[in-house]
Amino acid sequence: MEITTDIYFGDSKEQLKLLSNNSVDLVVTSPPYADQRKNTYGGIHHNKYVDWFLPISKELLRVLNPTGTFILNIKEKVVEGERSTYVMELILEMRKQGWLWTEEFIWHKKNCYPGKWPNRFRDAWERLLQFNKSRKFNMYQEKVMVPMGDWANSRLKNLSDTDKIRDNSKVGSGFGKNISNWLERDNAYPTNVLHLATECNNKNHSAAFPEELPEWFIKLFTKEYDIVLDPFMGSGTTLIVANRMKRNSIGVDIVPEYCEMVKKQLNPVELYLFEPNAKYEKTKPKRHTSVR
Ligand SMILES: C[S@@+](CC[C@H](N)C(=O)[O-])C[C@H]1O[C@@H](n2cnc3c(N)ncnc32)[C@H](O)[C@@H]1O
Repeated sequence: MEITTDIYFGDSKEQLKLLSNNSVDLVVTSPPYADQRKNTYGGIHHNKYVDWFLPISKELLRVLNPTGTFILNIKEKVVEGERSTYVMELILEMRKQGWLWTEEFIWHKKNCYPGKWPNRFRDAWERLLQFNKSRKFNMYQEKVMVPMGDWANSRLKNLSDTDKIRDNSKVGSGFGKNISNWLERDNAYPTNVLHLATECNNKNHSAAFPEELPEWFIKLFTKEYDIVLDPFMGSGTTLIVANRMKRNSIGVDIVPEYCEMVKKQLNPVELYLFEPNAKYEKTKPKRHTSVR
């Protein structure tokens, strides 16, 4: 089976209208953060951020498969000495739009360098918000298992009596655990914190993902030949990784140079580039700019 990569040049708010309903299995993306990178792209004022994003998340809700997942990398900035609340407001508005806010992963930027601010410390983490359309979404947890490592020598070495029986949650969550079940095992499930270095070597884009970031979510939420979408594609990290992992991918970016750059990096035989189209039909247009 052939792997395809489609690149749409233009504003996601319009370009996403070209995609069919329920056609995407995973969205992984990092939109421009509020008030940042005004000179290259983005620069949306923090007070206008939610209104700017909601028409795009509405389209994402339409194109996502009911078993699919949306991962949104975002972080609120500091405005006049306070953390801005636009991310929280966005979560609440997206819930009203029909999204379920199912989980929040933390991206710990482990290569963060030292700095000094008068009233806070250096930011070393960002949010990776997980949204779904339904509670029954695809998740391939075994694909991201990690070596038992330190747990084998620390926590699992000193088991208490309650560790050896199923200990049901005291807060009535319905969850229970029997820690002794993990003795003698080589692998464990990971936590919801991803310790990844930021990408410093990508000279083509100032805010590129490290490849491991989309890779981890692609493993966790998709299988081969599924469709992965990045509506703020940038240097195309999500598409490049998806292509390597035998997933079909779709990218959108408003800067033509980024579209051209990603086009050059991917295998041209598998790539199609869509120019902005005046008539936005809800069906996929004929692929018209094949670079074959
Ligand atoms: C933070 S960067 C994404 C970087 C990307 N994750 C990577 O690995 O290179 C955000 C991207 O969104 C694009 N962008 C900004 N507004 C957009 C819009 N309305 N529609 C589509 N793309 C947009 C910018 O040109 C920029 O490349």
